[in-house]
Amino acid sequence: GKVRAPTHIISTISDDRGEEPCYAGVPMSSIVEQGYGVGDVISLLWFKRSLPRYCTKFIEICIMLCADHGPCVSGAHNTIVTARAGKDLVSSLVSGLLTIGPRFGGAIDDAARYFKDAYDRGLTPYEFVESMKKKGIRVPGIGHRIKRGDNRDKRVELLQEFARTNFPSVKYMEYAVQVETYTLTKANNLVMNVDGAIGSLFLDLLAGSGMFTKPEIDEIVEIGYLNGLFVLARSIGLIGHTFDQKRLKQPLYRHPWEDVLYTK
Ligand code: ACO
Ligand code: LMR
Repeated sequence: GKVRAPTHIISTISDDRGEEPCYAGVPMSSIVEQGYGVGDVISLLWFKRSLPRYCTKFIEICIMLCADHGPCVSGAHNTIVTARAGKDLVSSLVSGLLTIGPRFGGAIDDAARYFKDAYDRGLTPYEFVESMKKKGIRVPGIGHRIKRGDNRDKRVELLQEFARTNFPSVKYMEYAVQVETYTLTKANNLVMNVDGAIGSLFLDLLAGSGMFTKPEIDEIVEIGYLNGLFVLARSIGLIGHTFDQKRLKQPLYRHPWEDVLYTK
């Protein structure tokens, strides 16, 4: 009989051994012939299944809307400084990526975790926000440096509009909107941000598409797949900023003394 030698690696998402590579069992030729997009490829490689068109379109919209947000945000700033220090593309890119975390772009998973837990436990927005305050935890997905109640984030509106039109249910998003309504009574900068919109809407995608079992949803939320959307998206912009600085032949960056408060 067959003797199975023990392997050092287990892999389940792709296979390059045959005539053509496959993503989650789907050969490259089908991907090209059937006109799959990057949302389909993400579905196959991250979720190991083909998702309905409205889901893959939503993923693509997330990627497009989060690709860049100007030169002043943490990630782009780091990338620009690194590129101007004469470093290569990969160094400039990862320098920007390393700023993605709980304050900047990497609050999507925690937003999904906290909104899901609060909604599933039936907490009112008031109970949820106040319990977070008691624990000294900022509500992930809420708050922005420049967006305000009277100057909303267009990206959030576009994602919500798409989901309201195309998703079978947007219960988690509506809950996040109620949370935002409450936080806005506290301060005008406590709007839902793009991380909160993606986190809550991805919960709706997972729960409403009928493509995932409850344990699978819990695992996705627990492992934390969703910050990957921002990391992937923002890489597009960070690569652009690197090329931009090189094209402009920008010199080494040095921060002006006048902008530092030297104090003892
Ligand atoms: N939940 C509760 N209270 C908050 C929150 C929040 N999410 N955000 C700010 N506050 C409070 C602060 O406690 C502060 O009150 P205090 O001065 O009494 O302590 C007040 O609002 C102002 O806070 P600032 O620190 O001035 O707000 P800042 O503009 O620096 O922070 C930030 C912006 C980092 C986005 C913040 O709102 C936050 O931590 N949000 C949660 C994390 C998050 O969602 N990040 C993703 C942002 S979107 C993106 O990066 C693509
Ligand atoms: C972003 O997408 O980078 C932003 O929402 C963060 C910011 O401060 O503009």
